[in-house]
Amino acid sequence: MIAQTALRQATAQLTDLGFETAARDARLLLAASMGISPSRLTLELSQILSPTVLAQYDEMIAQRCTYKPVSRILGHREFWGRRFSITPDVLDPRGDTETLIGTVLPQPATHVLDLGTGSGILAVTLAAEWPETSVVASDISPKALQVAQNNAETLGVAGRVQFVQSDWFDGITGTYDLIVSNPPYITDAEMAELRPDVVNFDPTIALTPGGDGLDPYRIIAEMSPQFLNAGGTVAVEIGWCQGPSVVELFKKAGFSHVEIYHDLDNKDRVVLAKW
Ligand SMILES: C[S@@+](CC[C@H](N)C(=O)[O-])C[C@H]1O[C@@H](n2cnc3c(N)ncnc32)[C@H](O)[C@@H]1O
Repeated sequence: MIAQTALRQATAQLTDLGFETAARDARLLLAASMGISPSRLTLELSQILSPTVLAQYDEMIAQRCTYKPVSRILGHREFWGRRFSITPDVLDPRGDTETLIGTVLPQPATHVLDLGTGSGILAVTLAAEWPETSVVASDISPKALQVAQNNAETLGVAGRVQFVQSDWFDGITGTYDLIVSNPPYITDAEMAELRPDVVNFDPTIALTPGGDGLDPYRIIAEMSPQFLNAGGTVAVEIGWCQGPSVVELFKKAGFSHVEIYHDLDNKDRVVLAKW
């Protein structure tokens, strides 16, 4: 079968299942099966696919039909211009989290703590963007820490990132100029409504702390002053309707300047608090 026919069939299959991104998904998976970059695919569409490549493509399309996200099928996700490996043990990084990087990047920090590092996107990106900076990346999940460490090695910053297993601040020592976190923040009520591509593939511990979704912010607001240098900053990602509650938590904990930043959809996405 030629590549174009396989692509047409797969696109039709995904379209029938209601995937809005059917054509894009089918192209990305075909390019991966053929071992070429997606930008070359159009040039290669008249190629005859070998039985091995075709079987691999069919298998990938079958996985997508179970609502598995394309990034999970491929095992990687682009974040702030770098490729991060992901496994079933970590959250599939979201584009919205780039808002946090964009918010803190103008003010380089020397010592950074990333709480709930997952695949390491925040810790590794900040270490890569700030070559003088050392980062402590922590998570409660040892398997997530292994993924983050692998990404730090692949992206050449492992020498400046230390990995610590910790329940929020329990295993953290030292003080920092900047503490960042994208904690689990989905409420119990929202969990019941989640789409299958989220609820079936992201680890529950990465999605929700239970209840009203605010417990990690309560802990971070209350505890971080003990771990911040004078004039230090905390930046946390938030759910789009949590802004006022999270601002209130940081103000109550005694932070001086507390501000909300918006994502590309103009929704509340980051709270930045200065000590
Ligand atoms: C929303 S994910 C964020 C992962 C990554 N920072 C990102 O932005 O893609 C939240 C992370 O917090 C971790 N986590 C959950 N509970 C935790 C706890 N009590 N202490 C430390 N980390 C925790 C999860 O394992 C998960 O990796």
